[in-house]
Amino acid sequence: MTQQPPAGPTEPTDHPDGPAPPDLPERVAKIYGEFDLSTVSAFAGGFINFGYWAGVPDHADRPLSEADRVRSEQDLYRLVLGTFDRPQGRSALEVGCGRGLGCALALREFGLGQVIGLDAHPDQITRAREANAALLGAFAGTPARLGFLLGAAEDIPLPDDAVDCLYSVEAAQHFRDPAGFAREAARVLRATGRLALTTFFARTHEAARALPGLLPPYADGLDVPHVVDDVAATLAAAGLREVRVRPIGDGVWEPYDRYMAQRPELRDEWPRRYLTAYRDGLLDYYVITAMAG
Ligand SMILES: C[S@@+](CC[C@H](N)C(=O)[O-])C[C@H]1O[C@@H](n2cnc3c(N)ncnc32)[C@H](O)[C@@H]1O
Repeated sequence: MTQQPPAGPTEPTDHPDGPAPPDLPERVAKIYGEFDLSTVSAFAGGFINFGYWAGVPDHADRPLSEADRVRSEQDLYRLVLGTFDRPQGRSALEVGCGRGLGCALALREFGLGQVIGLDAHPDQITRAREANAALLGAFAGTPARLGFLLGAAEDIPLPDDAVDCLYSVEAAQHFRDPAGFAREAARVLRATGRLALTTFFARTHEAARALPGLLPPYADGLDVPHVVDDVAATLAAAGLREVRVRPIGDGVWEPYDRYMAQRPELRDEWPRRYLTAYRDGLLDYYVITAMAG
């Protein structure tokens, strides 16, 4: 990894919206467009992930608050960003940045020199720019340390060797072409770059066949039940090294379900069936790390 703040071709303002809006699957376009998933009660604080709860104080012994929910979502980012070795001053790309609050956290808490948030939905890019307007304004007239780009994981609108770190939080379950993402990640990462990816994946091929029967987001085309070992293999096949897979479900599913259980209207609804799927060995939440070069 280089310690140099990136300049020139990785300047995010050089790429206002990518070459063209990506062709999103209909369900993905709807959920992150008019539906605006970040506003539903399963999420909080503008983030859209299940959260990592291990660091939420005393979480097992008391009712969980909305502040705890936000903390869990931020902590999932902290877990991922914490895998980067000495990130200070380096450049990073977040793939599937949503409202871009994780990009701001990365700048604020990890000392990165520049963060570019990439998302395939134009409404999410608009929301990210609005949510981070103050920070974007603070960088006006200086080398841009934060930027948001419209573009797909499988066709990243950045040149080769553009960034030191690439991370993604709960977006890869939407990718239609993980091998395409892996090739793009290997291409845009510098030779000493690092990748960190977190989301939920199927544990086996048999589980992948069963999941759509339990969880409508798989059946309706929002999510794809990628098998975790297949995802890791595509990263290695793209030339990334030291691909490591770490299951983190024990810090995700049970506390998330307890938070959701406080909403009686969701008693038998699908947002609570993830815990069943986890306990039945069908899926888990993972952190996958790899190195470029
Ligand atoms: C569950 S949200 C997670 C957002 C954010 N990372 C967070 O944790 O709050 C998934 C995001 O991935 C984006 N997305 C879906 N498919 C994508 C793709 N192929 N390439 C880039 N982004 C994609 C969606 O538009 C959405 O903003």
